[in-house]
Amino acid sequence: MAYDLIVIGAGPGGYVCAVRAAQLGLKTAIVEKRATLGGTCLNVGCIPSKALLHASELFEEAGHSFAKMGIGVSAPKLDLAAMQKFKDEGVDGNVKGVDFLMKKNKIDVVYGAARIAAAGKVEVKGNDGKTQTLEAKAIVIATGSDVAKLKGIDIDEKRVVSSTGALALDKVPGKLVVVGAGVIGLELGSVWRRLGADVTFVEFADRIMPGMDSEVCRQSQRILEKQGLKFKLSAKVTAVDGSGKTLKVKVEPAKGDGAGETLDADVVLVSVGRVPYTDGLGLKEAGVALDERGRVNVDHYFATNVPGIWAIGDVIKGPMLAHKAEDEGVAVAEILAGQAGHVNYDVIPGVIYTTPEVASVGKTEEQLKEAGIAYKVGKFPFTANARAKGNRTTEGFVKVLADAATDRVLGVHIIGANAGEMIAEATVIMEFGGSAEDLARTCHAHPTQSEAVKEAALAVDKRPIHM
Ligand code: NAI
Repeated sequence: MAYDLIVIGAGPGGYVCAVRAAQLGLKTAIVEKRATLGGTCLNVGCIPSKALLHASELFEEAGHSFAKMGIGVSAPKLDLAAMQKFKDEGVDGNVKGVDFLMKKNKIDVVYGAARIAAAGKVEVKGNDGKTQTLEAKAIVIATGSDVAKLKGIDIDEKRVVSSTGALALDKVPGKLVVVGAGVIGLELGSVWRRLGADVTFVEFADRIMPGMDSEVCRQSQRILEKQGLKFKLSAKVTAVDGSGKTLKVKVEPAKGDGAGETLDADVVLVSVGRVPYTDGLGLKEAGVALDERGRVNVDHYFATNVPGIWAIGDVIKGPMLAHKAEDEGVAVAEILAGQAGHVNYDVIPGVIYTTPEVASVGKTEEQLKEAGIAYKVGKFPFTANARAKGNRTTEGFVKVLADAATDRVLGVHIIGANAGEMIAEATVIMEFGGSAEDLARTCHAHPTQSEAVKEAALAVDKRPIHM
């Protein structure tokens, strides 16, 4: 069977690419090694983690906030197996949704491990051991990423876990040590803290949440500490001794000087980043060039150095985010169909689903300073927002950064309840090249938390109403 396009990998990048290609009339196949579609995101990433974040947050609220609202319930009892089932059913619904989309768009799904035999030829080894060769005019590599390992620390997914194991624990750990206070660590650390674990982070950098605006990081750290999370910054884990009943986690200063310490843990979560996944793809033999960090090298149009082979998502440069991969999937499909596919890398939102949520789009203050761009800041706290006051969700603020000369919005940073939803309007205004005044003059429904975005935009011009 000859196709117009074979996509390798059915995560958010790959399956979205396949759908868009099919919409544009390309005869498309998608190859997936996992037994279910949806990739890391749907199976062992974004979707299950958000299900556990949602359930654990309600568990915590039932124990701590319900009484204040006049809802009398006895202390909530955790049924972890049922909570895991709730998570698994959410995953199942999502992966079945992707199955449906493949059928609806007449995309052939081929299960097995793909290897690029040459440009235009993909060998797929099925789980039954049989190999078939598919042919196509174009191949898109969308194989995603894998957990970054730490030297000398073996992940068994039981006691020393990656995000995959941390999503599937069958018991709440007494003590959880999280290596790396990035997105995965903070989200999953929050889940297990809410369910009763004592959680300590060991972070190499001198701050949490790499890449986020530093004011947001500082406030977020204070809030998370109030919730009971503990942070050891500028520190690294050099060994985990699993010979006894309790894990012994050796922690040393990041710089390697000064005294170290040993922490006890029932579970250690390693969340120090992810690396592009290219194992077994045959890229070397096919002559596909990688960059210095092992990512598939692509040009502005997602083309590799080998004609007919393209790549998108976590396996290429840029933030490892499902929505970035999706947009690249759409863009490359459009390019293959002769259209002008494009991704605006200046406007890709990022969300950390802690409580409160942290969301960001565009440049941080540090980045603007470094680039020598003059900017104005408008800030508005949720303590002055009516809805937040009523709901007692007053932690956090909205910060709008606008060009000092043109007023164009350059970045928006939010810490607060539902920040992940609120960042969408900031993203739209930036995509349209809008100004803080545009945002400030847009009518926002009252009472909503999003009025804080409007007020922060007004604050850029020093004229917020409620502050
Ligand atoms: P990350 O890059 O967000 O954070 C890793 C952290 O580990 C950093 O703070 C880094 O300084 C620290 N670190 C690195 N080496 C260390 C060491 N030896 N000892 C101690 N700390 C060390 O990576 P993370 O959390 O593993 O997430 C991986 C990817 O998945 C990210 O690109 C993230 O964007 C994505 N993701 C996105 C989510 C979202 O959008 N909500 C949710 C989960 C993951």
